[in-house]
Amino acid sequence: MQQLNDTSSILALLATRKSASAKSMGAPGPTPEQLSEILRLGVRVPDHGKLAPWRFILWEGEARARFGDVLRTRWQALHPEHGEQSLSFVHDLFLRAPTVLGVVSTAQEHPKIPVWEQQLSAAAVCMNILYAATAMGIGCQWNTDWVVYDAEIAAAMGLAPHEKLAGLIYLGTPTAPLEDRPRADVAALLTRWQPS
Ligand SMILES: Cc1cc2nc3c(=O)[nH]c(=O)nc-3n(C[C@H](O)[C@H](O)[C@H](O)COP(=O)(O)O)c2cc1C
Repeated sequence: MQQLNDTSSILALLATRKSASAKSMGAPGPTPEQLSEILRLGVRVPDHGKLAPWRFILWEGEARARFGDVLRTRWQALHPEHGEQSLSFVHDLFLRAPTVLGVVSTAQEHPKIPVWEQQLSAAAVCMNILYAATAMGIGCQWNTDWVVYDAEIAAAMGLAPHEKLAGLIYLGTPTAPLEDRPRADVAALLTRWQPS
């Protein structure tokens, strides 16, 4: 069986990278030094106009449960029909991993650089973070969920109206074996442009 997350070379890691699952992620998370290195490597991405159109929000320790209170209250308001099991699941979303990192796209209208390009750069940051963490042996998964698309939750996270969460990166130690999945058939995705 192919070894996943083979860090013996850059190409080996590109060929075998596999996310952990936020559902099976325990302690420890990254140390403060590792986290700071993950961010330093994370922002080393193409960035048209050198706008650095991203920032980060970190949830660790007790902050995860306190934010869970916010999530639970909002979920209850959105779905009054849901029972305790559902509310409790939502409350514990950020408690699934020791570290939850929000990657915020701060893209704004700009005279030269389209918002779309700034948002793409935030996605590149998310991907770099996955590679940096994986190379350090830290399990990680890029998630969104309803949490990312709710205006009240965005406000509770401290997002300005123009900001969007590109992703929540769950970081920790996998507690279950990683399983690969079929990958896209790139030959089927490639067309060669020809003049008509
Ligand atoms: C923008 C974005 C949002 C995602 N949100 C979720 C999510 O909310 N829940 C989930 O289970 N997977 C989500 N995923 C998928 C996982 O990150 C990923 O596909 C999965 O962990 C396996 O990927 P891998 O096999 O390439 O490592 C999202 C992926 C992206 C790119």
